[in-house]
Amino acid sequence: MTQDEMKKMVAHAALEYVEAGAIIGVGTGSTANHFIDALAGIKHKIDGTVASSEATAERLKGHGIAVFELNEVSDIPVYVDGADETNKYLHLIKGGGGALTREKIIAAASNKFVCVADGSKLVDVLGAFPLPVEVIPMARSYVAREIVNMGGQPEWRENFITDNGNQILDVRNLEILDPVKMEAQLNNIVGVVTNGLFSIRPADVLLLGTEEGVKTIT
Ligand code: A5P
Repeated sequence: MTQDEMKKMVAHAALEYVEAGAIIGVGTGSTANHFIDALAGIKHKIDGTVASSEATAERLKGHGIAVFELNEVSDIPVYVDGADETNKYLHLIKGGGGALTREKIIAAASNKFVCVADGSKLVDVLGAFPLPVEVIPMARSYVAREIVNMGGQPEWRENFITDNGNQILDVRNLEILDPVKMEAQLNNIVGVVTNGLFSIRPADVLLLGTEEGVKTIT
């Protein structure tokens, strides 16, 4: 099975978590795109969605699925999104597509976060995938120096602006043995909007694509 077939398989499996009459939080990326396409098949069952990026909102609207602003919505029973890395505790690295801040906001506002990922995303220790950090543009160099002091190697994702008008530093060389501590420490640097560690609010369910089928990890 290819990586993309695995992504498609877990995206379809996530439909099981979609409740009738609910507003569904929808993530960003290629796995989330498969979920959006699958959701289109049951769009009459749901009241609408909240999107974690402009790209996701466009794709949802293209399928004729209603997209609400988060401020208009008080209850999101489930949020479905991919990940760049996950450990067995369902702590994640996200933000390879640059949508980490809106993703983290919707994850925080949702009752259940269902992460959908192909098997290659499961790792023992987070950090081989460069950790994205969204920064206010004027703070970029200052934040980069602070991250170097923490032992990281930040690289500016040039020619990329987030949906929030900010910039991204991709940080290598962080051995993330304590994701909760690292997430808080990075968010404490003035000028950081948020970072791509999802461990203070981890996923609740991981649907992992394997050769043997979908593995559910909670
Ligand atoms: C988007 O900013 C990311 O957080 C994605 O959720 C993550 O990069 C997973 O992407 P794929 O589903 O494309 O692997």
